[in-house]
Amino acid sequence: MKKLLVSLAAAVGLAAGSAQAAYPERPITMIVPFAAGGPTDVVARIVGEHMSKTLGQQIVVENVAGAGGTTGIARGAAAAPDGYTIMMGHMGTHGAAPALYPNLKYDPTKDFAPVGLAAGTPILIVTRKDFPAKDLKEFIAYMKANSEKVNEAHAGVGSVSFTTCTLLNSLLGAKPSRVAYRGTGPAINDLVGGQVDYACDQIVNLVPQIQAGTIRALSIATPERSPSLPNVPTTKEGGLPEYEVSAWNAVFAPKGTSPEIVAKLNDALVKALDDENTRKRLLELGGVIPDKAGRSPQALQKLVESEVARWTPVLKAAGATAN
Ligand code: MLT
Repeated sequence: MKKLLVSLAAAVGLAAGSAQAAYPERPITMIVPFAAGGPTDVVARIVGEHMSKTLGQQIVVENVAGAGGTTGIARGAAAAPDGYTIMMGHMGTHGAAPALYPNLKYDPTKDFAPVGLAAGTPILIVTRKDFPAKDLKEFIAYMKANSEKVNEAHAGVGSVSFTTCTLLNSLLGAKPSRVAYRGTGPAINDLVGGQVDYACDQIVNLVPQIQAGTIRALSIATPERSPSLPNVPTTKEGGLPEYEVSAWNAVFAPKGTSPEIVAKLNDALVKALDDENTRKRLLELGGVIPDKAGRSPQALQKLVESEVARWTPVLKAAGATAN
């Protein structure tokens, strides 16, 4: 009997091993937890396209928006850990959300098999093109006097845009009306249309509109200007050096995904980040390509832990909650 059990276990193990060797045998779903056309969607589609080539199977992007990205990520975290459902998360879903949602359905530090960092995404403060303040200095003065009349657009509590504008508003003592969208794709459309006044958003969503003059960039919140927007001053140059903040996007699989599958996904991600055309597309949009050391699952796990530790006190101090 014992022998039979042992050989059964061996057979199951072999079958699992060969299933992993054959992975992927069908298309993979990548959950983007925001509406199409926003930065998370843009990064997922650029990186996913090349990952599909390496894996020999299509990566199908599924936009599952809601609750600042936490709805889609909760769905992904609960999916079968078989490598066929992965997620494009970010600094909001995996760094800020725990401080904002007391009943968050996942723990960013425990409920995922991190795959790797996909892109760094600097934050810009952008306004509608005819907003009265024309640069960051004027914006600071305007917000100090008028913030209650101003509308800020964001992608829901817990999103990067919400989190980074929470920090900005708290530095300025500003109390704007905060308008939630299902992603910054639709939020920026309304900024172009003039229905809202300003937003804090990831650069990969913004470069074409800024270049076309349909929205105005006041400042980039990084120590250096971006090569893709050389005329946009840093927040330090604009008189708000305390506002230095950056975001990132990264690929996650559900906890329990086998190390072999994670390694295949990571290899495909790394190859995408080394691919000339993929790099060019990300760089033109102002994305930052992660360096080699930053691309491993272990580096991503450390990043998530440090981001949760970094954002929790900042958001608590700013009094931000989901309610
Ligand atoms: C965010 O604000 O978290 C993202 O920019 C949302 C999005 O990708 O649409």
